[in-house]
Amino acid sequence: MNIKTVVVTGGAGNIAYSLVFRISEIYGKEQKIHLKLVDIDSNLEKLRGVQMELEDCFFPWLEKISCYGNCKEGFKDADIVLLVGAKPRGPGMERKDLLKDNGKIFKEQAGFLEPKEDLKVLVVGNPCNTNALMIKRYSKISSKSVMAMTMLDELRGRTHLRKKGLESSKVKVYGNHSPTMVVVPHGIDDIESITNTFMPVVQKRGAEIINARGASSAASAANAIINHMIHWLEGNTYFSAATYDRNDDIFFSTYIRGNDIDSIPVKRAFDEYKDIPEIVNKLKITKEELLKERNEIEGL
Ligand SMILES: NC(=O)c1ccc[n+]([C@@H]2O[C@H](COP(=O)([O-])OP(=O)(O)OC[C@H]3O[C@@H](n4cnc5c(N)ncnc54)[C@H](O)[C@@H]3O)[C@@H](O)[C@H]2O)c1
Repeated sequence: MNIKTVVVTGGAGNIAYSLVFRISEIYGKEQKIHLKLVDIDSNLEKLRGVQMELEDCFFPWLEKISCYGNCKEGFKDADIVLLVGAKPRGPGMERKDLLKDNGKIFKEQAGFLEPKEDLKVLVVGNPCNTNALMIKRYSKISSKSVMAMTMLDELRGRTHLRKKGLESSKVKVYGNHSPTMVVVPHGIDDIESITNTFMPVVQKRGAEIINARGASSAASAANAIINHMIHWLEGNTYFSAATYDRNDDIFFSTYIRGNDIDSIPVKRAFDEYKDIPEIVNKLKITKEELLKERNEIEGL
């Protein structure tokens, strides 16, 4: 029997708690899964609690579940690796400190990834674009096996349009998963309302949820991970995702297909909007931010 091995890091965290119970949606219910949960040693007991709950669900697709305090064993034989675990930004911590701390974590994890045909590694832990760069740089896997997630931003954009009665099946996310991200709905030509209203709504949605819930988005992030992976495996549908740009050496989000992973997303984004200076200016800002992040993780 063909069993797929799916790894989730940060298995004891908030997103994972919404994600792991839905993991069969990625391949469909018929597919048997070996689920491997990884977290830091001090969270192993919590991880065991998640394991027990999963067992008690009596899921037909859950062939096996294993817990690890290290990635060496945790990443073995993986078909899909969902890199959710990351150090959170503490009080008074600057973004560049977070970049460095998480950069080191992702560098170490990169060394344990084993090349395998069709391996898919999705980086969710923030700053996800630059963490993905660490994975690309320090692993032996193909850059086409690595993406960073901007699907939550796409879904947030589509939600906003639906609330306004503007049904658009396409919302394209460009650049960094950060407040500089560029979010463009397809087929809506009012550039002023896109840049002044639509984009800020999506850019600020994460902070709005933190203020309301007292915790960052978890269930919606888990839902976005599942959506992202379904699109990636399906191959032919378009979705927003950050892929490696070989010219600029950054992970830059564009609207792609899983079967056609772009290796020059930056150029493609600038070409697409060359006649709209307002969008080009915003693309420049988000690209600059990614280049700066890249410089800050140099020499880690
Ligand atoms: N890309 C996106 O759209 C998106 C959306 C939401 C959240 N996020 C990010 O996802 C990450 C996880 O969010 P959360 O709410 O689950 O956080 P959380 O703090 O609840 O959980 C994080 C877990 O990661 C674990 N962890 C830390 N270092 C680890 C390591 N080296 N190896 C394995 N596990 C490790 C922690 O112990 C913890 O259990 C955060 O970085 C968050 O900013 C990204």
